[in-house]
Amino acid sequence: MAADFEALLRKLERRKIERLEKDSEAYKILADVFDHPTLLTLYHMVNRGIFETLYGAVSTGKEANIFCALDKQGNYVAVKIYRLATSDFKTMYRYLVGDPRFRTFHRDRRRIIYTWTSREFKNLQRAYEAGVSVPRPIDFENNVLVMEFVGEDGVSYPRMKDCRPKKPKQAFEKLLDAVKALYKKAKLVHADLSEYNVLVGPEPVLIDFSMATDIANPMANDLLMRDLTKLTRYFKKLGVETGEPIELFSDIKGE
Ligand SMILES: Nc1ncnc2c1ncn2[C@@H]1O[C@H](COP(=O)(O)OP(=O)(O)OP(=O)(O)O)[C@@H](O)[C@H]1O
Ligand SMILES: [Mg+2]
Repeated sequence: MAADFEALLRKLERRKIERLEKDSEAYKILADVFDHPTLLTLYHMVNRGIFETLYGAVSTGKEANIFCALDKQGNYVAVKIYRLATSDFKTMYRYLVGDPRFRTFHRDRRRIIYTWTSREFKNLQRAYEAGVSVPRPIDFENNVLVMEFVGEDGVSYPRMKDCRPKKPKQAFEKLLDAVKALYKKAKLVHADLSEYNVLVGPEPVLIDFSMATDIANPMANDLLMRDLTKLTRYFKKLGVETGEPIELFSDIKGE
């Protein structure tokens, strides 16, 4: 049984490599991302029916790679895989201990990354349940997180960095409402909010909840101020009268 499984795994690995071989950049990504434990996790998720085929690479970030996949019903889903070999787990550790939800967890490299992945999933869940415009979280296991694909035909909507919203004032108000709902209802601060982590579809969608933290975190106020500062800076450049970050901050906190 164990041997069968190993053989299957090797086959899965080989198939992926064969598919990507022509493209050397993709090959490098593959070697980094699809290590043995990650392949096992993906294999397990496929078996659990979370998604069926993993194909397009969407993005290679500092810690994670995003892929596009299809589920059984033919819907696109986004698969975020934290790289076990190259993620900055020391920084992850520092941020995790500040979050009251994660005071105790195993502190070896791999478990820290797994905890990090679970935190992002839980953050998305809380945000989604609070009605904030975020990708719907679908599942997670170890270092792999699966969520709704925010885009069309397997192509992500552009980042706000690369595509200014058609109606800046409305977009600003929506995002401010989102920050407020995150704080008030989801009890979260995004903590990495910028034009890099907003996708521009029919309405703006907040992504990348890896840094998002509980409002009970002693850093939460500073992080909220930073988010609001970045948000207002972006929209001021587009001529929107945003108000000052400190006023928005007080308004959100209800002070
Ligand atoms: N749910 C999603 N649907 C579609 N595309 C997505 C989704 N999540 C992320 N992406 C794409 O992947 C990119 C990186 O995502 P994200 O910011 O979550 O990862 P990251 O590891 O923080 O990347 P970086 O280090 O570059 O910030 C996004 O800019 C977007 O293009
Ligand atoms: Mg990001």
